[in-house]
Amino acid sequence: MSDLAPDRVAPLLRGSLGTPYLYAEQTGSTQNILRDGDHPHGAVAVAEHQTAGRGRSGRVWEDEPSRALLCSVLLQPPGGAPLPQLSLVAGLAVAAAVEATAGAETRLKWPNDVLVDGLKVAGILLEAAGGRVACGIGINVNQERGELPPGTRTPAISLRVATGQTLDRGQLLAAVLTELEARYGRWLAEGLAGLTAELEARNALAGRRVVLEAGAGTAGTIASDGRLTVVLDGGHTVLVESGEIELHAR
Ligand code: BTN
Repeated sequence: MSDLAPDRVAPLLRGSLGTPYLYAEQTGSTQNILRDGDHPHGAVAVAEHQTAGRGRSGRVWEDEPSRALLCSVLLQPPGGAPLPQLSLVAGLAVAAAVEATAGAETRLKWPNDVLVDGLKVAGILLEAAGGRVACGIGINVNQERGELPPGTRTPAISLRVATGQTLDRGQLLAAVLTELEARYGRWLAEGLAGLTAELEARNALAGRRVVLEAGAGTAGTIASDGRLTVVLDGGHTVLVESGEIELHAR
């Protein structure tokens, strides 16, 4: 039985995320399962394989069947909430869950990549419609080195390559949902300011050279509204919106 099968995952779930648990051996995209159904807050769609997995900015998200954790979580925040910040909320949750489950040290590359050893182990894709957000999470878990997609913008790594161990994806999923529920609750109560310390501790871009349309500079802190602070080479400080530009770190 798959480590993501409903009978394996149900006993591992502790909080309110994961009900209903919508499991598919193969689907176009777990994002579509949530988008096309009438599911409540907390619904989670999971697949062993996606035939049309989506990444950010129109990119494809490829997978090796049954090796990755491919899931989407349906969140329904109150009206007017700053939805793009959920990318950081989910990124922190994935980073914490990976660290707790795999023992690998993680960093968050603003706004949506989770890194291990400077390489991309997970990505987050937010898609919102009608106040409902499908928070898509893809984590490279048990791929061998040769099974990772080549030529990605940030080179990829799996937890297996990083740690030498095969991981139970059900345990990892349960940890992601627990960590996400905790941070989502804090975000609702306090805004992103409640997660500032954790964002700073995991900020992979702090002190790194970045190139923006406005020019080259050095990345700094993540502001309490989720924007990235960049000090341009001329000394001028800009706050960068996620999704506003493509960011090249070097
Ligand atoms: C990125 O880094 O560009 C975001 C990748 C998000 C991939 C996940 S896999 C589960 C969910 N379904 C999709 O089609 N995409 C997200």
